[in-house]
Amino acid sequence: MIGRLNHVAIAVPDLEAASAQYRDTLGAKVGSPQDEPDHGVTVVFIELPNTKIELLHPLGEGSPITAFLEKNPSGGIHHVCYEVEDILAARDKLQATGARVLGDGNPKIGAHGKPVLFLHPKDFTGTLVELEQV
Ligand code: CO
Repeated sequence: MIGRLNHVAIAVPDLEAASAQYRDTLGAKVGSPQDEPDHGVTVVFIELPNTKIELLHPLGEGSPITAFLEKNPSGGIHHVCYEVEDILAARDKLQATGARVLGDGNPKIGAHGKPVLFLHPKDFTGTLVELEQV
């Protein structure tokens, strides 16, 4: 059911420093910061030949990234995103197995303008999983 790895998201305490490290030290193609108020994050996309890295930084009150950075002050891998062809079919199939979808269970529009859902990390070996319809 899942397809390509769309991105790995890394929460970072300093977006500018992390962007500079990927651009200057690692030599990657680093985009500009984008505010995503619906998700409580500012995002920087890094394009690699086979996938993307998404740097995440808290935006506004109650950002889901704030608590993560309190537990992981130097940053850390926050989620992985897998592509699916039909997000509602994927959701229904996963929920039928008992997997929990975060939020109200309905897809939101993600940072790439496509529908996304998040799956509970306790149901997926301790990893927050994002599904993106492509
Ligand atoms: Co993501």
